Amino acid sequence: MSVTIRQLHPVFVGEVEGIDMRRPLTPDEVAAIEAGMDKYAVLVFHDQNISDEQQVAFSRNFGRIELAVGGNITKANERRLSVELADVSNLDQNSRIFARDDRRRMFNLGNRLWHSDSSFRAVPAKYSLLSGRAIPGSGGNTEFADMRAAYDALDDATKAQVEDMICEHSLMYSRGQLGFSEFTDEERAMFKPVRQRLVRTHPVTGRKSLFLASHAGTIVGWPMPEARSFLRDLVEHATQREFVYAHRWRQYDLVMWDNRQTMHRARPFNETGEVRDVRRTTIGGDGPTVQQEQAA
Ligand code: OGA
Ligand code: MN
Repeated sequence: MSVTIRQLHPVFVGEVEGIDMRRPLTPDEVAAIEAGMDKYAVLVFHDQNISDEQQVAFSRNFGRIELAVGGNITKANERRLSVELADVSNLDQNSRIFARDDRRRMFNLGNRLWHSDSSFRAVPAKYSLLSGRAIPGSGGNTEFADMRAAYDALDDATKAQVEDMICEHSLMYSRGQLGFSEFTDEERAMFKPVRQRLVRTHPVTGRKSLFLASHAGTIVGWPMPEARSFLRDLVEHATQREFVYAHRWRQYDLVMWDNRQTMHRARPFNETGEVRDVRRTTIGGDGPTVQQEQAA
């Protein structure tokens, strides 16, 4: 079966037909998906009723799996899923819905802020693949913003201003925006800020994009409040409606996005009453976006 992609939004997002993730892909299928990622930055696949193992096998076609350690406050003995999958659900290790005030739930609420996955890691993620295993009756959309379109729409003076700008990203910055600011010493060490370029160039298409996230909390060399207000304005610019696609989940959708070219955020649903079981595999990036200081 041949792969076809139909554009779903005026500036990005493709809907893919002709892929069955339960089977190994041919090299042509992998190439068609990669070309689709380069062009559309977000791809939607429907009706993929897959196991975790099938999700991991499909993901491996696109690179090395980034393990889900260091990106959360969930302890190793509290994991519901294997370490190759990020648990983006509202379920604990016993598949019970988190209590409203569960610390892990409150931490995960950070996903409601615009972000790029793993921008808080020295080597940020390339792709993310999110599989919808159980979807609530209403709410719980995922929204995506095209950061290439956002870059293109900047005026020339701002483009020049941001060209070589370096930001520091940390999970403590994004969580801090929601008033979640109490971290253990171990968590503070794990979430130590890392540096990222604000403007990235896509290695294949050469298009520039804004590498923004709510994890970005400082601009190197800038006073903090000035940096925060500048970043806030940029996020507002980048997420204006014409650059945003809202994905309404159907069970067994898999949505794949390029974290180098997009931001995304989760939208609310009845989190303490309904199950939303979505599981993410993440493809590691090629390297740091800037020279990182050596770890002590
Ligand atoms: C993610 C994420 C948003 C959502 O999986 O990285 O941010 O809607 N998900 O669950
Ligand atoms: Mn995310």
